[in-house]
Amino acid sequence: MTKQLEKKHSLAVRWLHWISFPLLALMIWSGLLIYWANAIYGFKIFGYELFHFFPTWFYDILGIPLRLAEGISLHFFFMWFFALNGVIYVLYLIFSGEWRAILPVPGSFKRAALVSLHDLHILKKLPPQGKYNDAQRIAYTGVILLGAGSIITGLAIYKPLQLSWLTWILGGYEWARWEHFWVMILFVLFFVVHVIQVLLAGWNNFRSMITGFEVVKTDAVATETMVEEGAKV
Ligand code: HEM
Repeated sequence: MTKQLEKKHSLAVRWLHWISFPLLALMIWSGLLIYWANAIYGFKIFGYELFHFFPTWFYDILGIPLRLAEGISLHFFFMWFFALNGVIYVLYLIFSGEWRAILPVPGSFKRAALVSLHDLHILKKLPPQGKYNDAQRIAYTGVILLGAGSIITGLAIYKPLQLSWLTWILGGYEWARWEHFWVMILFVLFFVVHVIQVLLAGWNNFRSMITGFEVVKTDAVATETMVEEGAKV
């Protein structure tokens, strides 16, 4: 058994990935500073509210109250960088062909369920996978859609008069605002699961998102055979 370095993530993906993290954090933080001023959403069943976004202690612990103007200025400043970073990432995926490793393929949803059962230690065998497993493909495509969704719904409530057609398509101002809020909740859920998975996957996997390389164990005999066979072709 020998160890060797294998290229995993391109420089562009690593930069775009790590830039997106503080930008998204800033967008969520400044969004909360704004939302506090008119905190109307909650989980309701038959008119009874089970949970309100968010309880008073949550705002108090984080020092959120009375910072609406600061929130708006941060949100409207960083949104351009967030959008630009996302657009460059999507263009990069398209032109580099790396979208092939990210988009779900036929059978992905079924195999993603098997991956989840494996992660929950219910199933022993892991379905075959390439760079990313099918659960990752769905999660990463989902988060790209969330990025697009946050920008589209955000624009609709940023300029509801100039972009009235967009606000209308999204169901009007109130619906667009509600959709924008839920995109944020889904982003947070993705983030929590993503970080847990990264922690579970270990240092080698995490380091590859910084250096671009992953240490892989190879069967020396198999590698030699492959080299010989390659030489024959
Ligand atoms: C802002 C929140 C984040 C978003 C939206 C996000 C999104 C993504 C996406 C889309 C990919 C696939 C990249 C590609 O190949 O094109 C990815 C991979 C990865 N992310 Fe994140 N990420 C976030 C935060 C983080 C954080 C905080 C960590 C570290 C704790 C992290 C660690 C990783 C690693 C290690 C991979 C590679 C996984 C693998 O090779 O199996 N990410 N992330």
